Amino acid sequence: MAKQSRANGYMKKQLVVNQKGGIGKTTLCRQQTFYTHELGYRVLAADLDPQGNFTRTMLQVRERNGLPPAGEVMTAAHLFMETPPDLPLLWCDDGLALLPSTPELLDIPTLGLQVIGRPRKILEHIESRNQFDFMITDIGPARLAMMKAILQAVDFVVCPFDIDQDAIDGLHTLMHDIREAQTVLGNPTLKMLGGLASLINTDRVFEVRSVEELKQAMGDIIIPPVLYDRAATKYAKDYPVWQSSKGISKSKAATEMRNVCEYLLTRMMEQ
Ligand SMILES: Nc1ncnc2c1ncn2[C@@H]1O[C@H](COP(=O)(O)OP(=O)(O)O)[C@@H](O)[C@H]1O
Ligand SMILES: [Mg+2]
Repeated sequence: MAKQSRANGYMKKQLVVNQKGGIGKTTLCRQQTFYTHELGYRVLAADLDPQGNFTRTMLQVRERNGLPPAGEVMTAAHLFMETPPDLPLLWCDDGLALLPSTPELLDIPTLGLQVIGRPRKILEHIESRNQFDFMITDIGPARLAMMKAILQAVDFVVCPFDIDQDAIDGLHTLMHDIREAQTVLGNPTLKMLGGLASLINTDRVFEVRSVEELKQAMGDIIIPPVLYDRAATKYAKDYPVWQSSKGISKSKAATEMRNVCEYLLTRMMEQ
């Protein structure tokens, strides 16, 4: 059993999303999972990206903990099935389980709109059996129905973006999708935690200035702490960046990542 009791009595489900790739979504999921679990919360890591990078990280955590190879377990693709098989969760540590990415995720778009409603129901079932405090969900570029289904099921959304028009457009598209989830899809309490400026290069005046301009233009939508491009963050694939052992950027990288994780945790705990 992890140390802390449940955070306000329900599993707070967070989705990290932007249709643009390579902007730090998986990095944030990894580090937030480490951060939240280190604080003693019970965490469900969910990897809805067929690339499976988040899964590989969590499987390394599991291996480091000396746990044997797992048999058949509940996977992220099962969230989209009408009646998923009754399988155990994949535990990676005390109080840390994973819904792993599998190749079946690639088939979900073929199921069409019928997947809407399924993740919500299946997560309720998981929640009723396991007292998780948080679900941290990673997703890659997703087709429409899959995106609608997951936005209907989660409570919070974070949208990393870099200084690139495609990523900023992705943030605007998401705002529209969130409004639809709140109204048409029946998830009125879905909350946008915000756009997270990510991979910002401190040597480029233009990038740093653009973040400030976006904060001015979009106000509350942009999360105050920023994730700068740091070598230590790039290398910290399967351990917390605040445990990095070398490199000049490590203390800045650690502080910036912890600030973001703390900010997001605080916002979710307020609800
Ligand atoms: N703040 C950062 N500083 C340096 N490298 C980063 C940072 N965030 C992400 N990266 C690196 O950028 C690449 C893409 O990040 P990733 O988290 O996989 O993006 P996404 O999940 O959006 O595709 C990875 O190699 C990752 O290690
Ligand atoms: Mg990713």
